[in-house]
Amino acid sequence: MAHTASLSQLQTPKYASVNGELVPYEDVTIHIGAEALTRALSVFEGLKGYWDDQGAVFSLRAPRWHYDRLCRSAALFRIPIGFSYEEYVAAMRALAEELLVTGRDLWFRTTLYVVEGHWGEATRADLVITAFTQAMHDPEPMRMGVSTWRRAADVALPARVKSSANYVIARLARIDANRLGYDDAVLLNDHGRVAEATGACVLIANRGRVVTPPTTEGCLDSITTAVLEQVCHELGVPFERRAIDRTELLVAEECGVAGTISELTLISEIDTFDYALDGTLARVRAAYLDVMRGRHTIDAAALPGEFEMVDLVRQGSTGSGS
Ligand SMILES: Cc1ncc(COP(=O)(O)O)c(C=O)c1O
Repeated sequence: MAHTASLSQLQTPKYASVNGELVPYEDVTIHIGAEALTRALSVFEGLKGYWDDQGAVFSLRAPRWHYDRLCRSAALFRIPIGFSYEEYVAAMRALAEELLVTGRDLWFRTTLYVVEGHWGEATRADLVITAFTQAMHDPEPMRMGVSTWRRAADVALPARVKSSANYVIARLARIDANRLGYDDAVLLNDHGRVAEATGACVLIANRGRVVTPPTTEGCLDSITTAVLEQVCHELGVPFERRAIDRTELLVAEECGVAGTISELTLISEIDTFDYALDGTLARVRAAYLDVMRGRHTIDAAALPGEFEMVDLVRQGSTGSGS
């Protein structure tokens, strides 16, 4: 299995960034009394940076958009944000300069851990950034199962908030899926319709038309899906956001999962139903990667968030790697 989302987590990088300071990875600790542990109070973003084709410039995809979403997650959980967008990017740049190696991309997890406070009183959070290198080759198509675990309703555990707590159920679904021999699982919502995968959104395609559930079906307001929608638009591929029944998922011609790490990973099978791997989604995936690697620019003004490939590191300024 070459599911990049899992592999990156097995690394032990040299450093992490804590409130803008580089700290040896093993020295980053959290107190047992922190609300991040006792009440699962942490929100985060996963960001991806890409080398260009020449391996000369490493650029971060849409950090402002991620920062804005992190601020929204924090606001909904009443967690104060004590750093600017500029400080956020500077911290990732400093980490990239230490951890980046030639021939591998980097994925950043930027987490706000609530370290002080009690039931909303005197809340203070630390921004901890970790980063993991990723292979640049295409991942294998994945095999998935529909989970018996579900995404909670917005008034129970909102999928719109990118909180660590949301991944408790995702973890159980992933473990069950792995035990059944699958790479990942599709989670349904309270109504039995498709919500999302454990760490990505679900897209299907029929006769060249792409469909994905809207955020109100219980999925994260995905940046990748929004970019893919624009890519489809520019390719002349119809793209629709609407509810998807379980049976519609199973009989679709093509299926894929979309997310910062997954990019657009093709799905070969869900619960023994097979999908084509050489159709519209493969074409959209290739066009998306053209944008990420700087081979093509999209109309950023048409996107619902601030989209920019921000140059973080130039070849020659990287450290020794992890
Ligand atoms: C549960 C979940 N849904 C969807 C996504 C896709 O969101 P994005 O494209 O913003 O990474 C992710 C990945 O971050 C995720 O963890």
